[in-house]
Amino acid sequence: MSRILNRVPRSSRLSGFHRLTVQERRDKLVETTWLTDERAASLEQPACGLSEHDADAMIENVVGLHALPLSVALNFRVNGADRVVPMSVEEPSIVAAASSAARLTLAGGGFWARCDEPVLTCQVQLLDVADPEAGQARILAAKPELLALADSFIPRMVKRGGGARDLEVRVLSELVVVHVHVDVRDAMGANTVNTVAEGLADRLAELARGRVGLRILTNLSDRRKVTAGCRVPVEALASRDFPDGAFVARRVVEAQRFAELDPYRAVTHNKGVMNGVDAVLVAFGNDWRAVEAGAHAWAARGGAYRPLTRWWVEGDALVGELTLPMATSTVGGAARTHPGVKLALELAHVSSANDLGALAAAAGLATNLAALRALSTEGINRGHMALHARRVAAEAGAAPAQVAVVAAQLSAEGCYRPERARVIVAELAEEARA
Ligand code: MEV
Repeated sequence: MSRILNRVPRSSRLSGFHRLTVQERRDKLVETTWLTDERAASLEQPACGLSEHDADAMIENVVGLHALPLSVALNFRVNGADRVVPMSVEEPSIVAAASSAARLTLAGGGFWARCDEPVLTCQVQLLDVADPEAGQARILAAKPELLALADSFIPRMVKRGGGARDLEVRVLSELVVVHVHVDVRDAMGANTVNTVAEGLADRLAELARGRVGLRILTNLSDRRKVTAGCRVPVEALASRDFPDGAFVARRVVEAQRFAELDPYRAVTHNKGVMNGVDAVLVAFGNDWRAVEAGAHAWAARGGAYRPLTRWWVEGDALVGELTLPMATSTVGGAARTHPGVKLALELAHVSSANDLGALAAAAGLATNLAALRALSTEGINRGHMALHARRVAAEAGAAPAQVAVVAAQLSAEGCYRPERARVIVAELAEEARA
């Protein structure tokens, strides 16, 4: 079914989506053919249908299920195709920020993204090597033999088109460290490259004439990066309070400059990027800790901690780019066992691990753009409080059609207390009866 749906071009612009009830949103995704009826129904089950039995097989000592909201960010076009982007996160405003920034990019054609080949790297530490440079030379001379040996430990990956691609040897003081670069296709690849590291270690120690130390992947997977970019015509950045889009673009560039000069700001800037990236990775049951670790190591690769993005003005457009290592997966692990992850893969029509990486990077660039635009103009709180007001209104019993009215009143009064919201809801009901 998803293959049939895939052929239908559909829009990621679902106007008024945020004003619908949860059930109406599911219906809308079915109506717009993003979801099948069957999948939409599975969303009605707690934790998207993940059973305690499934959970017990995923991790140890399970005592229950811990749920997070599953949302979709809208308005995303990535490499020319509209996508709805599943996101799972506890922090309010992130999904709204991603959707509103993605909408700005549409005027410039949406996001583009390109990915490296899905090559993950493992490290083998060799100790007590009497002559590290000579050991390095002997290992490099045996490269063809070692790559073939590496492939012999991962025959199923080789069958899927992956396998060992290259080998490097680094001498770090008294240590010899061997890197094996392995194409892991649509897997995250940790198990695959760890198997290679453990399998090759003895032969490497023999060649180096040393002793085996650690054998493990590196999360600085810098041969597996994704870059996402966008070009926002400056007029798209204008708002009621900031009608000069070129001014807003310059402010965003000033915010970028702050992050480039100051690690205290860069880390918060990058947190705003990871708001989008991680929310996507969590929805897809991916190892977001690995991507986080890799992202921050990449940000510090030059010796100083720097922003992951770049923003600049080019002609009449604000142009942005985000590059980070992205070890994603669409097979094995949660993709096999978690029904919510299967649903996310289907909903977003994800075709490969790299495709997922492209979506995550686009989401990260979007949340960063939203943060910089808000911070460099009206400040972050106004948008947050507007969303907070909507939540207070809904919790006070406002009908979906009344939420915006009640929220606007709360915002105008600068009072977000539930008691006040309940009074406004009661007044509206009174007016309706009169
Ligand atoms: C909050 O989750 C993220 C921001 O702090 C990001 C930033 O400051 O760029 C708003």
